[in-house]
Amino acid sequence: MYIGVDYYPEHWPRERWETDAQMMQAAGFNIVRLAEFAWVNMEPQEGRFEFGWLDDALALLARYDIRAILCTPTAVMPAWVARAYPETLAMQTDGTRIVWGVRKNNCFTAGAYRLLSERITRAMAEHFKDAPNVIGWQTDNEFGNPVCHCDTCRATFQDWLRTKYGTLEALNQAWGTHFWGHSFGTWGEIQIPVDRNTHNPSACLDWQRFYSWLNVRFQRDQVQILREICPQHFVTHNLMGLFHELDYYDLAADLDFVSWDNYPVWGKPDIPYKAAEAADVMRGLKKRNFWIMEQTAGPGGWGSYGRNPRPGEIRKIAFQQVAHGADGMVWFRWRTCTAGREQYWHGLLGHDGKGLRRYQEAAQTAADLHSLSTLLEGTTVKASVALIYDYDSIWALRIQPGYAGNTYHAAVERIYAALFRAGVNVDMIKPTDDFTPYRAVFAPDLYVLPDTVARALSDYVENGGVLFCDSRTGVKDETNLCHDRTLPGLLSDALGITIEEYESLDHDWGRGLSFTYAVQGDGDLAGEYTATQTAEWVQPTTAETLATYTEWHMQPFAALTRNRFGKGWGYFLGTNIGEEAFYDRLIADILAHADVTAIATPPEGVEVSVRENGDRRLLFVLNHTETPQTVSVPAGKTELLTGQITDTTLTLDRYGVAVIQLR
Ligand code: GLA
Ligand code: ZN
Repeated sequence: MYIGVDYYPEHWPRERWETDAQMMQAAGFNIVRLAEFAWVNMEPQEGRFEFGWLDDALALLARYDIRAILCTPTAVMPAWVARAYPETLAMQTDGTRIVWGVRKNNCFTAGAYRLLSERITRAMAEHFKDAPNVIGWQTDNEFGNPVCHCDTCRATFQDWLRTKYGTLEALNQAWGTHFWGHSFGTWGEIQIPVDRNTHNPSACLDWQRFYSWLNVRFQRDQVQILREICPQHFVTHNLMGLFHELDYYDLAADLDFVSWDNYPVWGKPDIPYKAAEAADVMRGLKKRNFWIMEQTAGPGGWGSYGRNPRPGEIRKIAFQQVAHGADGMVWFRWRTCTAGREQYWHGLLGHDGKGLRRYQEAAQTAADLHSLSTLLEGTTVKASVALIYDYDSIWALRIQPGYAGNTYHAAVERIYAALFRAGVNVDMIKPTDDFTPYRAVFAPDLYVLPDTVARALSDYVENGGVLFCDSRTGVKDETNLCHDRTLPGLLSDALGITIEEYESLDHDWGRGLSFTYAVQGDGDLAGEYTATQTAEWVQPTTAETLATYTEWHMQPFAALTRNRFGKGWGYFLGTNIGEEAFYDRLIADILAHADVTAIATPPEGVEVSVRENGDRRLLFVLNHTETPQTVSVPAGKTELLTGQITDTTLTLDRYGVAVIQLR
């Protein structure tokens, strides 16, 4: 297993390099990521390349058995690029160009930038293709910024639309430009929609897709060069988990595997649902394991710094990712910088360069992971439950949330967190994926619903699948026009309901006008709950009602329904319930109908996850709390980190982790 750090030898005197390499080796590290922002160090003047310093660093690291991932350095343009080619600096909405001096400053359509990027990529690839300890590449850094409003970007957008729609008539139709008299007579009239709150929602959605495509195209230009010259090396990119300016499915398509940057230490310690969810999203992009390319190593910040990971937390954070499919672990960064904007983004070593607590904890983690690596090899998470993770719905809901406070991620998190608490693994999948490998599919806030997807979901239920949907399902088609059918449209039969009316319980046009409805649950969901934010006035047709509203005018409508359709079940929740316990009971009911059994029933704050292959099953148990926790586990198995044989329960210390070999 590759375990190591993001290393910037160019920041430190050469006399220090050997100490760094020694300390890395002593910590059990065998990989570094290099050259991420070092364009000017490698091409100090246009066309003059200097790779000697990096050759020396690589040779030194090789003596300590440390391999390297090199980055194409295009996330920071050298000052000479901005001076010689000012059009490479992205243009802001007011028509001025970004002032050079941070990073991610560039326009992705500027021909000069694309050529310079290809040239440095080719020069690096040619120079390092046979370097013995180089094993792969990271493209650029954290794609997704900035947005450029220059004329070249606008013209490229127009071209992209012409390719997509063929005729202006088709575009006018797809965008519904009859509204407000916005029809286009020529392609050249099309503008970049600058404000997603006021511009045409269909134009805004296509702009977002275009912007994503621009980044993907920029990366692809580099990937093609790397594949041509260095076919023996892997190519990856450091994505950002739940970041959603780009369609990560597309960005990942050109990579060998996904890597991502995980920084879960911010406010007070809490149950890290999001880091688990993000890991599952990352694993889902290519349906394969991933790497952590930057992992929290200390307090982070550019001006002020945040919380310090507490003793045990660095190790626990790493194990959580491994439990969800991480096959490589790289901490950001090796040593805290004494210069520049990230002086407070702390590494494993502080400014003083000493191997103190955080370094030692990472070293212990490395030793633990190396001891597991043979068993981990070839294993991954195999979930029987899927959650649809859809960028179109993320973007369309950002353009029009419908009700105040609605975000796609909030909807996903309500469900994901309940599945996490229930102790089941989840696969995050595309709406166009095959649903049949899963016993249950959760589709929260699936707002953009093409007919093909609706039919596939309906067939899935009819053939025995269990589907969960909630408010705002299927409102839009793929061009962001409203479907002209009674909701939930093509899912009406599978869900056994119709929705003729709906409302917000909160409105972003008024302050303090929010209200709630009381909800009464029946059967296994017995109890009183609170409907918040949104209410769809759900009329069951064939569905049974599992929860009702008590307010007089809402009594004819259902808050929660369950429908037998063919051999499967369709659930619909028409509101957001304030109480977490409601979701726990709902998930329990859905999992029971889907015949899914939990890995274990963990106490609050304890996470379970399984990695497996044909022969092996490894159960990860992680205590995210700061008090010891006792968990029921299968007895008579080996806990691999201690070598002890399990009893029927296992007690984990604060932030403790255990890996039990079930098979
Ligand atoms: C990102 C970048 C790193 C570093 C950290 C901290 O994750 O990839 O280079 O800048 O943020 O700011
Ligand atoms: Zn531009």
